[in-house]
Amino acid sequence: MSLVLDPLPYAYDALQPYMSAETLEFHHDKHHAAYVTNGNNLLKGTEWEGLPIEQIITGSHGKNAPVFNNAAQVWNHAEFWKYLKPNGGGKVPGKVEKALIEGIGSVEKALEDLAQAGVTQFGSGWAWLAVKDGKVAVSKTPNAENPLIHGATPILTIDVWEHAYYIDYRNRRPDFIKTVIGNLVNWEYVEAQLEKALG
Ligand SMILES: [Fe+2]
Repeated sequence: MSLVLDPLPYAYDALQPYMSAETLEFHHDKHHAAYVTNGNNLLKGTEWEGLPIEQIITGSHGKNAPVFNNAAQVWNHAEFWKYLKPNGGGKVPGKVEKALIEGIGSVEKALEDLAQAGVTQFGSGWAWLAVKDGKVAVSKTPNAENPLIHGATPILTIDVWEHAYYIDYRNRRPDFIKTVIGNLVNWEYVEAQLEKALG
């Protein structure tokens, strides 16, 4: 199988009260799982079957929308889970701080811009911090798109599809984003991705 559904890296209730077990059960076990099932069915017999997921994403982009959409959503979600942890948020590690200052001006501006990207993404999509040409930048993408297709390496993402927040926050997407940044971000994972991206 090309695409796999990894379990969450924490218990379903581990992110409460900021993200409920009910949200994680629906988001991981229904939404994320459906992208895996649908993606594997769509990949059968295509040139991308059996390739690493990043190659499926970049290879199918612009060529096969159903394969791209499902594979990218599998990857986006698998990464999103890893960027969260219980007792997250708080102080940004030194290496990340330095990269945010160099790329965006300050940590505060980077986090404000990231939140604003998520708030202003019209409809479904994702907000990102990603490294391109050695610099961190903020971006937002619609639907399943991600920075990989623009030659950038993500170091943090926030899912702003309604299914990410509607159970816990109803229509209050800005509150969800603010809470993720303030209370759930796994900065150690961000730092590890940044180190990989900078080589
Ligand atoms: Fe999602």
